[in-house]
Amino acid sequence: MRRPVVIGNWKMHGSLKEAAALAAGIKRNLFDLAEVDIAVCPPFPYLLDVRDEIENSPVRLGAQDCYWEPKGAFTGEVSVPMLKDAGCAYVLCGHSERRHVLGESNEWVRKKVAAVLAGGLTPVLCVGEKLDERERWATEHVVREHVEEGMRGLSSQQAQDVVIAYEPVWAIGTGKTATPDQAQEVHAFIRKTLGRLFGEGAAQAIRLQYGGSVKPDNVDDLMSQPDVDGVLVGGASLDVESFTRIAKFRRKT
Ligand code: 13P
Repeated sequence: MRRPVVIGNWKMHGSLKEAAALAAGIKRNLFDLAEVDIAVCPPFPYLLDVRDEIENSPVRLGAQDCYWEPKGAFTGEVSVPMLKDAGCAYVLCGHSERRHVLGESNEWVRKKVAAVLAGGLTPVLCVGEKLDERERWATEHVVREHVEEGMRGLSSQQAQDVVIAYEPVWAIGTGKTATPDQAQEVHAFIRKTLGRLFGEGAAQAIRLQYGGSVKPDNVDDLMSQPDVDGVLVGGASLDVESFTRIAKFRRKT
């Protein structure tokens, strides 16, 4: 059975004070949640304060991005060893905002995933199609390419340490969630692709998250899909009660 994984991506929001308060609230509400992996990804300058707030709780720390070289003359970048030092367990790789706003390529994303694995942290490889791609029936083409390119060169053992987040770009921050059936359809396709690349055993072990307007009122239906193993939450992770309810999803049988 794949262990559920719920991650809050705070993006570029809030002040240091707000980040600390949010982390403290989440810890207070989720201190005894044992059956789900939980993490929050604050902006870089808030990592250490958030780390201190969530200490001695099941809530883990994540980073929103990284650079693939461990050190060197790369002004403005943050390496995986630095993130590890700061207490991170997860690193988002290739979030759609990085791909489409900052122009990150599949090759960059691949290097980041490999660097995160090499550093002993868990990469969350983000994949997903834009609206015009879905309308052109190119969803599978885009998602296959994101998965194949992002995981190129990994062994089947390494692949099992990657979390994949399917985040259709048209559903991010728009209030327009993929229906549970739409999410399941793409997740099943991703698992099939993983089976071809890494073998059926690895494909069954890799955890797949859905992201895109996940809210307390749709999380139960999304998490009830057989191939949805977790959620990557943006807006609703900025509110203690919303994120708590999402982390305490109830699967429908
Ligand atoms: P929203 O939940 O705000 O749609 O954001 C999703 C997302 O991009 C998480 O990484």
